[in-house]
Amino acid sequence: MKTLKINLSTLFILLLITIGCKKAETNFTVHSPNTNILVEFALSESGQPYYTVHHKETLVIDTSFMSFDFKDLPPLKNNLKVINFTIGSTDETWTMPWGEQLEVRNNFNELTVNLEEQSEEKRLLSIHFKVYDDGIGFRYEFPAQDHLKEVLITDENTQFNLTGDHTVWWIPGDWDIYEHVYNETKFSEIDALSKQNHPNLSATYIPENAVNTPVTMKTDAGLYLSFHEADLTNYAGMTLKVDHANLGMVSELVGSERLGGKAKLTLPFNTPWRTIQIGEKAGDLIESKLILNLNDPNQIGEVDYFTPMKYVGIWWEMHIGKSTWDMEGSQDMSTWMEGKEGGSRHGATTENAKKYIDFAAQNGIKGLLVEGWNTGWDKWIDNDREGVFDFMTPYADYNFEEVRDYAKAHGVEIIMHHETSAAPLTYEKQMEEAYNFMKANGINSVKTGYVGKIIPRGEYHHGQWMVNHYHKVLVETAKKKIAVNAHEPIKATGKRRTFPNAIAREGLRGQEFNAWATDGGNPPSHLPTVAFTRMLAGPIDFTPGVFNIKFNEYKANNQINTTLAHQLALYVVIYSPIQMACDLPEHYMLNGKIHPAFQFITDVGVDWQQTRVLDGEVGDFVIIARQERESGNWFVGGITDENERIQTLTFEFLDDGKTYNATIYKDGPNAHWDKNPEAYEIENLELTKASSLDIPLASGGGFAISIIQKK
Ligand code: NOJ
Ligand code: CA
Repeated sequence: MKTLKINLSTLFILLLITIGCKKAETNFTVHSPNTNILVEFALSESGQPYYTVHHKETLVIDTSFMSFDFKDLPPLKNNLKVINFTIGSTDETWTMPWGEQLEVRNNFNELTVNLEEQSEEKRLLSIHFKVYDDGIGFRYEFPAQDHLKEVLITDENTQFNLTGDHTVWWIPGDWDIYEHVYNETKFSEIDALSKQNHPNLSATYIPENAVNTPVTMKTDAGLYLSFHEADLTNYAGMTLKVDHANLGMVSELVGSERLGGKAKLTLPFNTPWRTIQIGEKAGDLIESKLILNLNDPNQIGEVDYFTPMKYVGIWWEMHIGKSTWDMEGSQDMSTWMEGKEGGSRHGATTENAKKYIDFAAQNGIKGLLVEGWNTGWDKWIDNDREGVFDFMTPYADYNFEEVRDYAKAHGVEIIMHHETSAAPLTYEKQMEEAYNFMKANGINSVKTGYVGKIIPRGEYHHGQWMVNHYHKVLVETAKKKIAVNAHEPIKATGKRRTFPNAIAREGLRGQEFNAWATDGGNPPSHLPTVAFTRMLAGPIDFTPGVFNIKFNEYKANNQINTTLAHQLALYVVIYSPIQMACDLPEHYMLNGKIHPAFQFITDVGVDWQQTRVLDGEVGDFVIIARQERESGNWFVGGITDENERIQTLTFEFLDDGKTYNATIYKDGPNAHWDKNPEAYEIENLELTKASSLDIPLASGGGFAISIIQKK
């Protein structure tokens, strides 16, 4: 990396060399390496910082001001002066231990402007920009200084002023949960407050007309923008408050009633990066690695204790109400309510775990998640959840050692489950012992969960206090060599680069909603939207793979709103280094044999050499090809919303001169997400680089292709 520190006297000449210079000495411009993106930074007449962003000739972010409000201190806003600045550029490549691709290029130009307030306190603030070919990031850096030791931020006011009434794919700026259906509206029609009090969400708090990030937009000219943040550490999560009249957004940090503000910090500190990804095609957003590049390199060393894998679980059966998490079976937690009478329907029994292990071992699945194995589920009462869960003690009908040994003998890896019921202090108390217990039993990964309102009250899932809790979990598990898949998490902000034991997370409306949501479940357009929004943040534990689409035996009023082929495609489309085959083992059987379509789940990779987005449009459809590491095999997945379509596929990504055996799993001729969701066809053929195929996708449908090199 090259960086230069420059005093104002030498500023002019150097600006001409490396970055442009405009107007006065307080105006700076930085280009992306390919010069397509231009960021301008300047101070207003009152000495307030602002920036603009251009893509080619187009202004995409209009004059957007920056300031901070603090408790018991004057705002940091006006009267700032540039004292010096640094510029630099970096072009390096780093390797992902697991991921969507093996190598990531990190190529940017940067500018840090060091500002001083013209006041008695002479408060100091630096603003650091990094400009990439795929977007920009900037953050605030508060250096150590004489008159400012600690701040309680009551508001960060970073503006993102738009230049048109774009089409936006958004979820509300909920401080507690991201599990909302995406809305597609014009910016001027965003109405987050109408999304309050969802009947299926046990925690939700939407105080403003704001959206959560990543929030993705399309301009009338066809440019794609997505706003998010990178490296959210010791700070509050950022929502974006919507200003319809000015077509503007301003950062609205998640607060804490206990804190009486948004974030309390000791200087020196840096805020997370505020990011804007920019793409000429929708797929560019998915291929962008900007969020990861803005995070620090791996700090925890090798993560060879974790191998990307597929897993099954004692899980879906509780969500559809076949069994329960608690041993008495008195609660029907498929609806999170008091439920059915009559005897134990406990899912996590020794016998049932063995059934899943047999299924996994026979069908090339490596992992098994067991939920409801530990005591506490029966005492899960909304207001009194402290001390309820015990992360070491199995229920009496679950013989932990027997299951452990049976799994080991069959080459299956157990995934631990820690539902904290959003009582993180109870979890923190048991953490050390619980992780030691896992390791002593050869368990290397854990799924965590945070269902409900946070205890202590006054904290929210996305506030600074919980950001620090989720961080602590990553630090403590890394020490023990444990990988974490968090549900009800803080959003992904690329921290998996620094902590590659952060393997996946939920943080969206997952498959489970199809089991019990009272609003009809996830619409067919859900995942074609998620791929261009939530997925830009990082890996998703969506838990795909339902074959019994209607599950009428258990829930006559619920179903999956996709075809079976769409479910298969998700193993390629939705990226995660762990992918669940979530349906019941018996639902994967057809006439006493394994369902022919399960072969795709057995074959599909989970760790990728490279990824190509072949086609797509936000909210409509997406087609992704990924090449598996080591084997070099390719897998292609395509999904569509409620509109059927015919997708033309070409295979330029295949190697020259090679022939491949391909198996196509696609919608049957009359398939339809509602009327005929399980109709599928399997076709075998040979493919080369020159091949071309037209594949029909049904309404709510999809396709999956495995492309295996001929030996
Ligand atoms: C919500 C999680 O998303 C789900 O996967 C889990 O089964 C339940 N909580 C119980 O922990
Ligand atoms: Ca959830």
